[in-house]
Amino acid sequence: MSNAALAVQPAVHALDIHPVAGRIGAEIRGVQLSGDLDAATVEAIRQALVQYKVIFFRGQTHLDDQSQEAFSHLLGEPVAHPTVPVRDGTRYLMELDGAQGQRANSWHTDVTFVDAYPKASILRSVVAPASGGDTVWANTATAYNELSAELRELADKLWAVHSNEYDYAGAKPDVSAEKLERYRKVFTSTVFETEHPIVRVHPESGEKSLVLGHFVKRIKGYSQADSAHLFGLLQSHVTRLENTVRWRWSAGDVAIWDNRSTQHYAVDDYGTQDRIVRRVTLKGDVPVGVHGQRSQTTKGL
Ligand SMILES: [Fe+2]
Repeated sequence: MSNAALAVQPAVHALDIHPVAGRIGAEIRGVQLSGDLDAATVEAIRQALVQYKVIFFRGQTHLDDQSQEAFSHLLGEPVAHPTVPVRDGTRYLMELDGAQGQRANSWHTDVTFVDAYPKASILRSVVAPASGGDTVWANTATAYNELSAELRELADKLWAVHSNEYDYAGAKPDVSAEKLERYRKVFTSTVFETEHPIVRVHPESGEKSLVLGHFVKRIKGYSQADSAHLFGLLQSHVTRLENTVRWRWSAGDVAIWDNRSTQHYAVDDYGTQDRIVRRVTLKGDVPVGVHGQRSQTTKGL
């Protein structure tokens, strides 16, 4: 058992935890995810999620859509995506199929264009490419902590407008323009805008973290040019390699991330190979800034 495993409250349940990178990410071994997990194990998983921010479970090939949803109920309240229809036969599950252009190869936190964006996402690999298609997560709390005192003070006061009408296309050379346009139309069938403080306080850990990513449209009160500079300055600290962890997928792997303290990026380097993942998100709370102000959705409700 690793030192990290000993750090988890023994009174709850000692999980077999193996940290992956220095600042974020841990693999948990010896757990078979299902809707029937005992309460002590579920509580230990919840604690590990807040501590490590993204946790990985290999070999969960027994899971299907229904049991993934059943497991997600143990960690919170599943919610469907605001605009993308759920997969047939499921209540909350969203499929991301690389062949259909669903390649999230830019840094983001899921669904930040609404105020109470998901607290966590549970992603299961269904088809993994033989090479490539990794996902990278970044720790937005260590990113905040490593800012200079002056920059933290500035970030604490800034607000950003997030929208799902973002630069969706990015660089996806292996997907046709028609498929990308079809997906964009679904994704923006309702256009949302939400104002978030750039620094939020985590409701469980109390940690402060940066709320940025690709849904940011502008920094409130600043010109587009100044917004771009300020965004780039702060976002560059999120994506420093020291704040990240990278996962090489096999079919059956499950990753769960704390969507309140991370960003992620799905690396689009797998060409025309198949890559299918299925995601369930859990209802989150409305972010609170360091001065107690709460996020607000201003468009799309
Ligand atoms: Fe995502």
